[in-house]
Amino acid sequence: MKRKVILIILSVGLAVLSWYVTGLIQCADHALFAEEAESSQHKTLQDRLEMGRKLFVERCASCHNERGDKPLPGGPALSERKLTREVIVKNASGHLRKATEEQKTAVAEYVESFMKKK
Ligand code: HEC
Repeated sequence: MKRKVILIILSVGLAVLSWYVTGLIQCADHALFAEEAESSQHKTLQDRLEMGRKLFVERCASCHNERGDKPLPGGPALSERKLTREVIVKNASGHLRKATEEQKTAVAEYVESFMKKK
């Protein structure tokens, strides 16, 4: 009889413990996810420009130079053109097929940063 009681207490204890541990793990997961979401939402313009610059150097600078000042066969250099965000994103997307929206926006912002103002 006594053994049965101990067994019941033990298994209830185990159940409570595992419920508690699962809760802790889920909590840690949420915290991690929240942190990630936050970091991408609250990237400063500085961070985005740096991300855009890296992508531009990697994927665009061979034809446009790092600051977009290479003259193009069809007309003036990128930095001399007064382009809208829409046109930049459209062109960028053609060269960045697998990029996320965030990355395309970052590249567009970088291009705007060296483009002569209207
Ligand atoms: C293989 C060479 C090459 C690469 C790589 C390249 N471009 Fe271009 N891009 C060109 C040429 C050439 C033109 C000029 C076309 C013209 O004269 O209208 C151009 C034009 C553009 C224009 C202007 C379009 C317009 O309507 O005036 C934008 C914006 C642009 N590129 C963005 C980018 C971005 C952003 C990247 C990288 C993600 C990139 N390009 C990569 C060759 C390239």
